[in-house]
Amino acid sequence: MKNTLIIGAGGVGGVVVHKCVMNKAVFGTITLASRRLESCQKIADQLPAGAIGIAQVNADHTDEVIALIQKTKADIVINVALPYQDLAIMDACIATKTPYLDTANYEHPDLAKFEYKEQWARHEAFQKAGVMALLGSGFDPGATNVFCAYAQKHYFDTIETIDILDCNGGDHGYAFATNFNPEINLREVSANGRYWENGKWVETKPMEIHFTWDYPEVGEKESYLLYHEEMESLVKHIKGLKRIRFFMTFGPSYLKHMEVLQNVGMLGIEPVEHKGQKIIPIEFLKTLLPDPASLGPRTVGKTNIGIVAEGMKDGKRRKIYLYQVKDHQECYREVKSQAVSYTTGVPAMIGAMLMLQGAWSGQGVFNMEQMNPDPFMDALNAHGLPWQMVELA
Ligand SMILES: NC(=O)c1ccc[n+]([C@@H]2O[C@H](COP(=O)([O-])OP(=O)(O)OC[C@H]3O[C@@H](n4cnc5c(N)ncnc54)[C@H](OP(=O)(O)O)[C@@H]3O)[C@@H](O)[C@H]2O)c1
Repeated sequence: MKNTLIIGAGGVGGVVVHKCVMNKAVFGTITLASRRLESCQKIADQLPAGAIGIAQVNADHTDEVIALIQKTKADIVINVALPYQDLAIMDACIATKTPYLDTANYEHPDLAKFEYKEQWARHEAFQKAGVMALLGSGFDPGATNVFCAYAQKHYFDTIETIDILDCNGGDHGYAFATNFNPEINLREVSANGRYWENGKWVETKPMEIHFTWDYPEVGEKESYLLYHEEMESLVKHIKGLKRIRFFMTFGPSYLKHMEVLQNVGMLGIEPVEHKGQKIIPIEFLKTLLPDPASLGPRTVGKTNIGIVAEGMKDGKRRKIYLYQVKDHQECYREVKSQAVSYTTGVPAMIGAMLMLQGAWSGQGVFNMEQMNPDPFMDALNAHGLPWQMVELA
């Protein structure tokens, strides 16, 4: 019987817990830990009594995580807290020789920048500990990385270009709200854009490059070029790639709010003095905005996330679109969450399942596309995220 420790009782954490409980034969005894015990209790209350154990932990402190891993005898740690906690939790896993999985790469709280450098730097330490760390097992990063690996394995000899297309066609009825942690989301979309072409990164102004794409089951949406973390590992691992870009859809109301908030300084990450107290504008904004976990019951519509890949197969040019569509209300009925948390939490559960079952194994730090994509793609179909592939040319 395995022991599973999940850290972070937010929107994504809730989905991971529900899905692990549905697959208890794999996950065994499940403990959910978070900074506030009441966040864990809220999720535990959605489940049959005794389905999970709960614990309080401040995951910024490696020693607290070590103590919890030892107490729960965890066979795996699923980190769905915030990116700020990644390194402290990874270090606790190294110290206790425990496999590790997360869904987002490390961010320093004081720098609006994210990169894999510090997590990749722990490769040798994980090798020495003899265990695996799997980075970015959400949807994007996560399923999108596996889509690329699957396309590489089954549909192409060489992939030349990839566009990752992320559309949330959901409507929550608020003028402005974010679908996952507002601080992380707003930092991501207000930063300069960046894509990779002919061996180097090309920087763009925020929202400078955009185009209209017709998303199956959602419709036409304006899609904006952003920098997104999975590109950093994909350019290393997809051989022969000439260009990779990432696009996300935003509605006019979201963009107008973003512009105003940016102009008045509400997206700032530097502390400002307010009536004798120091406050960080973006943290204060988070307090004002709806909690993403509360959007579940009111969000209608669908998400559609996928990749368009173009390259050569058997001497012929080929272009494919591999995508996944998920309905917000269907997710809410199943696990009391909207589709953005669902599409992140299910791949986290699947990655952990493949690690516990030994289908995905290794010693060191790995990104998703380094693993055999086949069992992951089968598991997406089996656990609520069926995908489709269409030929575009
Ligand atoms: N790859 C993808 O596709 C994808 C998509 C969306 C999100 N994500 C990532 O998923 C993660 C979770 O996102 P979310 O939307 O669920 O965020 P969220 O709703 O804000 O939840 C984060 C949870 O982390 C907990 N936490 C924060 N600091 C902590 C600490 N020091 N120690 C222990 N727990 C702490 C919070 O705890 P309390 O409630 O107890 O205070 C909160 O419940 C983030 O890293 C996000 O970037 C990935």
